[in-house]
Amino acid sequence: MSTADAIAGKPRILTGDTPTGQLHLGHWVGSVKRRVELQHTHDCYFIIANMHAYTTRLAKSEDIKRDSVAIVRDYLAMGIDPEKTTIFLQSEVPAIAELTFLFAMLLPFNRVMRNPTLKTEIETKGLGDTYSFGFPLYAVGQTADILAFRPVGVPVGEDQVPHLELTREVARRFNQIFCGVDEHAEDDDHVKLGGVFPIPRADVGAVGRLAGIDGVNKMSKSLNNAIFIADDPKEVEKKVKKIFTGRQSPTEPGDVNNVLFQYVRTFMKA
Ligand code: TRP
Repeated sequence: MSTADAIAGKPRILTGDTPTGQLHLGHWVGSVKRRVELQHTHDCYFIIANMHAYTTRLAKSEDIKRDSVAIVRDYLAMGIDPEKTTIFLQSEVPAIAELTFLFAMLLPFNRVMRNPTLKTEIETKGLGDTYSFGFPLYAVGQTADILAFRPVGVPVGEDQVPHLELTREVARRFNQIFCGVDEHAEDDDHVKLGGVFPIPRADVGAVGRLAGIDGVNKMSKSLNNAIFIADDPKEVEKKVKKIFTGRQSPTEPGDVNNVLFQYVRTFMKA
């Protein structure tokens, strides 16, 4: 590893969030908790992907701005230390947009469209067949977010793994075409063999999925079942009291697998 890739001998990681809402407990268990640990051992970069938010909030730049600030506030509240890490706004690094254009040439169009995360988003966000060209382009943009910083790892939730696969393909292809790395080279050998980009690994958190207070679906802002990091104790209490525990009568214990118990197991010490 060259010194450019490791400040004080620490391997570099990059991850981030798109400001399409505030952070909730699902973000904490799925990703941010891991980042707080990694900041002691890694050179950390966290991107606020504000340009990607235009895919669903085109005429709402004020909302994007508000949530960008809210996400940074929540990072700080959860223990991300700005003395140890670099938190930055995607739009402030124009090289990412330049790289997006160039990397788009390295990916077959049909390959981008086969990305299962894009397909799921088209369904769950009800984008139909009228989504913009910029919507699938954000997946190419994410390869640029990552590779611009040449990290060795990307801590993300399960749903982001397809984006990492795309990123790894771009890095391999670039190293092969422009740096003479053999197409049979092992991923871990690319830099040693003269490649510009390390082939970054997805580092998936321990709790991939936290149920929302509806007890059924994954916690999500759009499903109205989230406990937000910024909720005050009164709001949290109100939300927790709404959780259905499966208890049919006051003498019955209810179902020990209900969400309330899941939260106890996830958040309370043994
Ligand atoms: N797409 C990610 C999400 O929706 C956010 C993101 C943008 C990201 N660029 C990134 C995550 C680069 C990791 C690395 O959560």
